Amino acid sequence: MEMLKLRELQLRASIGLVLANSDLEGEDKQHHFGLFNSSLQLCACVVLSMENSGQRGKLRQMAVETDYQLRGMGRSLYEYVESWCRVHGVRQIVLHARTSVKGFYYKLGFTECGVEFVQATLPHIKMLKAL
Ligand SMILES: CC(C)(COP(=O)(O)OP(=O)(O)OC[C@H]1O[C@@H](n2cnc3c(N)ncnc32)[C@H](O)[C@@H]1OP(=O)(O)O)[C@@H](O)C(=O)NCCC(=O)NCCS
Repeated sequence: MEMLKLRELQLRASIGLVLANSDLEGEDKQHHFGLFNSSLQLCACVVLSMENSGQRGKLRQMAVETDYQLRGMGRSLYEYVESWCRVHGVRQIVLHARTSVKGFYYKLGFTECGVEFVQATLPHIKMLKAL
C-alpha cells in the first residue's frame, strides 16, 4: 500500500493522472523492491518484471519520496536491484525512461535505444544495460 501511494504521488498525481488498473496488471507476479529509512518509512520503490525466460528484467515505476530525492536513494535502490538481477541470471535490464530523467539512468550505466515515444502523456525513451 505504501508503495502504491508513493508511485501515485511521484508518477501520476505529479502529472495530473491516477494509477490505472492497466498500470498494475500482472504485478502480483512481478518483483517489488523498496528502500526504507531507519524509522521503516518507505523512501523509494521500483518494480521489476521478468521477460525472455528470465534473461531480461524490465524496470518499472521507479519513484523516490520528494524529501529524499538527489540524496542517492534512487542509485542505492537500483544497485540493489541490479545485484539481485545478476544473482538471478538476468543478462540485460531495460526500462522506459521519462526523457526528463534520462540523465539519472545514464549515471547508472544505461544507454538509449530507439526513438522517443509518448507514454502516460510524457515523452519517454527506451534504455538498456547489459549485465
Ligand atoms: C528520478 C529519480 C528516480 C532519481 O532518484 P534520486 O534518488 O533522486 O537520484 P540519486 O540521488 O540516486 O541520483 C543518482 C545520480 O543521478 C543524478 N540524477 C538524479 N536525478 C536526475 C535527473 N532528473 N536528471 C539528471 N541526473 C539526475 C544525480 O545527480 C546523481 O548523480 P551523481 O551520482 O553524479 O551525484 C527520482 O528523482 C524520482 O523519483 N523522481 C520522480 C519520479 C520519476 O521521475 N521517476 C522516474 C520515472 S522514469
